[in-house]
Amino acid sequence: MKIEFTLNGAPVTVEAPARTTLLALLRDYLNLTGAKEGCGVGECGACSVLLDGQLVNSCLALAPEAHGGEVITIEGIHAPDGGPNDLQIALVDYGAVQCGYCTPGMVMAAEALLMRNLNPTRAEIRAALAGNLCRCTGYVQIIDAIEAVARERRTHHGEHGEHGEHGER
Ligand code: FES
Ligand code: FES
Repeated sequence: MKIEFTLNGAPVTVEAPARTTLLALLRDYLNLTGAKEGCGVGECGACSVLLDGQLVNSCLALAPEAHGGEVITIEGIHAPDGGPNDLQIALVDYGAVQCGYCTPGMVMAAEALLMRNLNPTRAEIRAALAGNLCRCTGYVQIIDAIEAVARERRTHHGEHGEHGEHGER
């Protein structure tokens, strides 16, 4: 079937079987390999993307669910110059990236949180990451990085507009 949607700000049309997962559509049909397949059953969050502004496990979503909607993947999260954004830089600076397999999903989950709450408590950050597993870091560095970015974005809030510094939302 023909699936049309907005992907990282640009319209796309893909022909794929109706039972294709959104993850397979992104990786195998659109060559966007940032979203990872970890568990394939909705438990690890490595495949996280935003669908119409909501964090979803793309391994569980069927591609037709994106039809007419808007998908943002890790490839759509970047600084205005195309380089890493503040969150991505902070994750590296805080030692929150080790093997990196969970990182795209972590970034999507963190951005989803920061879109709705720029002043999260550590408990709220932990809760927002509850669906994202990391085998390497123990989470503390990840939470520290997100907390620092939230603080920084609050400071700059108003200077650049609400979402001006971090991607195409
Ligand atoms: S691969 Fe989708 S949640 Fe694990
Ligand atoms: S950095 Fe390896 S799984 Fe998170």
